[in-house]
Amino acid sequence: MGRVAIQGVTKRFGDVTAVDHLTLEVADQEFLVLLGPSGCGKSTALRMIAGLDEPTEGVIEIGARVVNDVEAKDRDVAMVFQSYALYPHMSVRRNIEFPLRSRRVDRDERQQLVEEAAGMLGLDTLLDRKPAQLSGGQRQRVALARAIVRRPQVFLMDEPLSNLDAKLRVQTRAELVELHRRVTTTVIYVTHDQVEAMTMGDRIAILNDGLLQQVGPPQDVYERPTNLFVARFIGNPPMNTVTGKVVRADGDRHAVAVPGGEIAVKPEIGKALDRLALAEVVAGIRPEHLELGADGPIEATVSVVESLGHERHVFCRLTDGQPVIVRQQAAEAAPAEQTPARLTFDDANLHLFDPTTERRVEA
Ligand SMILES: Nc1ncnc2c1ncn2[C@@H]1O[C@H](COP(=O)(O)OP(=O)(O)O)[C@@H](O)[C@H]1O
Ligand SMILES: [Mg+2]
Repeated sequence: MGRVAIQGVTKRFGDVTAVDHLTLEVADQEFLVLLGPSGCGKSTALRMIAGLDEPTEGVIEIGARVVNDVEAKDRDVAMVFQSYALYPHMSVRRNIEFPLRSRRVDRDERQQLVEEAAGMLGLDTLLDRKPAQLSGGQRQRVALARAIVRRPQVFLMDEPLSNLDAKLRVQTRAELVELHRRVTTTVIYVTHDQVEAMTMGDRIAILNDGLLQQVGPPQDVYERPTNLFVARFIGNPPMNTVTGKVVRADGDRHAVAVPGGEIAVKPEIGKALDRLALAEVVAGIRPEHLELGADGPIEATVSVVESLGHERHVFCRLTDGQPVIVRQQAAEAAPAEQTPARLTFDDANLHLFDPTTERRVEA
């Protein structure tokens, strides 16, 4: 079984703590995406699972066994890197079967496994070519096929699509998800691209500075980010965040005073603000949840309107000059640039965060 359990795993390089007490369990056959900005410790975490780096502290289990003392080659995992390093002098077939030869798998079985993997990845007709005769996307598929022939319990993929151009990346993204459904193997997939994470993962685990921020299904993470880092990292254009004063009017009615207006807060959230004794709070609203309306509670000015064809990004400024982005569908009426506007939204879509701890304020 391809379950992976990481318990209290830390990796230090001198004074740098690359991974800090990471605890994470990946279920058998799950597609888990490890997401975070460059330098947050994603590759280090993956390399420790692969057995290429040794944890400073903590326990790693694959299947039912602790693998801390098991060598990389005996862990039954296959890793695909961003730089997929094919052997240039070998044909595609030889490249794919390389791990089988080094395991002394016999000729007939080798041939069958190679043809199966090549078929899955659409490489059937390219088996006699050399890597130099392939496109970047085809080369990446050869690297994947070379990992698949081993039938590992766990695939570890480190930014495998980042060398592909944008169009090919989108296509290969879908192909990888399809492939995962067919091979039913556990996948741990590293990326800094939140779109890849949202579209590919059964669950996303978000890392920042070596620390795990949140783990959950993509939609949950999107709808209920646990802190400001996650709120700003997931979603494009990013969530608008504005700091305001907590206003208490006639007993238990609460609002957040932001430049140019006040945002009403639901009573149960108001209670949470009191419980935390917050004088200020960060209000977060996603661009698609903001609307331009004649009678919204917040005064603003439209600065620039960007049209993307199917949708529009309307850049506004609050009365103090802070930028705020509104996302509109193309069918909505476009506002004129350099005109006053009022912003409105449904309070179900308001996120509030403690400005000091940056944690989400929960009812
Ligand atoms: N072999 C190493 N020696 C020293 N520092 C390293 C080494 N590998 C990674 N680091 C540091 O650990 C941190 C995390 O790196 P890495 O895991 O490669 O991040 P990511 O893959 O998320 O971009 C970075 O600060 C990086 O500089
Ligand atoms: Mg990396």
